Amino acid sequence: MTKDSLARIDESPNDAVTNPELLRDAIEGLSGAEKTLPPKWLYDRQGCDLFERITTLPEYYPTRTEAAILETHAAALGASIPPGGALVELGSGASVKTRTLLDAAPHLSAYVPVDIAAGFLEETAADLRRRYPRLDVVPVAADFTGPVPLSPRLRDVPKVGFFPGSTIGNLEPEIARDLLAGARAWPNVEGFILGVDLVKDTDELVAAYDDAQGVTAAFIGNLLTRLNRETGADFAHDAFAYEASWNAVATRIDMRLVSRRDQVVTLPGARIGFAAGEAIHVSAARKYTVENLGALARSAGWKLDRVLTDREDRFAVARLAP
Ligand code: AVJ
Repeated sequence: MTKDSLARIDESPNDAVTNPELLRDAIEGLSGAEKTLPPKWLYDRQGCDLFERITTLPEYYPTRTEAAILETHAAALGASIPPGGALVELGSGASVKTRTLLDAAPHLSAYVPVDIAAGFLEETAADLRRRYPRLDVVPVAADFTGPVPLSPRLRDVPKVGFFPGSTIGNLEPEIARDLLAGARAWPNVEGFILGVDLVKDTDELVAAYDDAQGVTAAFIGNLLTRLNRETGADFAHDAFAYEASWNAVATRIDMRLVSRRDQVVTLPGARIGFAAGEAIHVSAARKYTVENLGALARSAGWKLDRVLTDREDRFAVARLAP
């Protein structure tokens, strides 16, 4: 056997790795005492489609409740966006609810959707350009927990941040604070519109994350499918069960994949042992009260200007002012 073919054999396990960043995150997350996978990897093409299905489920109240709040208060929210300004949306997804704001603020000059799912982002941007021909749509493919690389040509434009959907609930409180503080430091930032889910009855919360049709289970389980496809891991899909639970101490829903049996999963460069019942923590959805939302805003240099809620106080859309 020649040296050359030996080298090829050594490298062959890595041929299947098309996403080295995901592999690195997975090995790091699965090697500790508490196994975790970062939720940002849930949003591949299939994951985005499954999440869009979640938003229409009867149990998943946040999307429609927030949409109703935005519609009810569209005129006031639109008026709070400065003329000629830019709306910068973090984790824009399909930008569906954004249209309520775009319709209510025809004086906007630019819309900047920021999302990690680059392909989905471009499709959404193209769609918005068709719908709003006078709007400058400037997509940014980035992880919104890092600094947002805003186009220099928008430097002097007054900006309003938009972070709907209670996506902030996915973040650890310190990361949420850093994100809001980062937005506070954008040049010419004048406001921030933040959607947060509120603490409520436990059964209602758990049902929203463990729907009867199993769409949420498929959404979370899709991460294993993605790991197999993009890193060459060998997760057996039916070897893990989805579980959602309320964590009263951290006031959050925890989403986990629980190993159904003792097993070893192989990733290029790592073998990960699971005991039966051992879980991978995939995502958390933190719920806020108006009080601790105010504390979060203040800790990031903002003040709570207005808090808009639905009649049942399920969800809040907060307007933050510098
Ligand atoms: C998109 C992060 C807001 O936490 O409610 C929904 C994601 N995960 N069901 C949420 C999600 C499972 C969702 N966010």
